[in-house]
Amino acid sequence: MKYNFLSKVSLFMIALTMLTTSCRRKKLEEVVEVPLPAKEEKLIIGQPDDVKASDGAFSLTKLNFQYNELEPNIGILTMENHYSKHYLTYTNNLNKLISDDANLTDLSIEDILKKLDLNNADLRNNAGGYYNHTFFFDGLKPKSEGKPKDTLAVAINKDFGSFEVFKNQFIDAAEKQFGSGWAWLILDKTGKLQVISTPNQDNPLMPKQIVQGIPLLNLDVWEHAYYLDYQYKRKRYIESFFKVINWKKVSDRYEEALSSK
Ligand SMILES: [Fe+2]
Repeated sequence: MKYNFLSKVSLFMIALTMLTTSCRRKKLEEVVEVPLPAKEEKLIIGQPDDVKASDGAFSLTKLNFQYNELEPNIGILTMENHYSKHYLTYTNNLNKLISDDANLTDLSIEDILKKLDLNNADLRNNAGGYYNHTFFFDGLKPKSEGKPKDTLAVAINKDFGSFEVFKNQFIDAAEKQFGSGWAWLILDKTGKLQVISTPNQDNPLMPKQIVQGIPLLNLDVWEHAYYLDYQYKRKRYIESFFKVINWKKVSDRYEEALSSK
């Protein structure tokens, strides 16, 4: 009798265990059942000429090359993002600010920067962002001449000692700019070439800068300008920049700066 009772209890326990296991398995099956991954989105890279700013006083500078033509020094995705997203946003924001302020209508970007109230953060960031990026994209070309020629080459030798000394100073300024900002070659108020850096979207045309002057060359050292290609290795990006500088453009700016003095 006792045996039969224990057997019945055992059979009941076994049946209960099987039922629980079955339920648990079912639950597990429900948990691991996941939908199939969606089809991968196709990455579409547009054309620089198709990017248009909103209606307003300022438009994007035209790129004289395609997004992929600065590779391997600046990658296609970096260029596409930089030009069609970051630069476009600064330009559209600036156009909006100008349309809301009658005092800014009809002013050149240089005059907006020179008359800037530094406490006006929106205008400071977006007018600076527009000018700096326009200047940066205009100063690039797929195959750099390597060095400046003629008048600018003579001036660099005179004011820095040699092209190599200038280059090292520029690399140093760009590398040591803490956080986001820009490195510049400028013609200062005394007529001397200088290398400087500015934080955020500030530039040497704005009031109350440590050194003011006429910009000749600039380099964007915001992470969006290089992180896809170089990650944390900012110095490698800066060195590669020297392979895509449009020195003819920089020389033309120098001649123009001299004639304006
Ligand atoms: Fe940028």
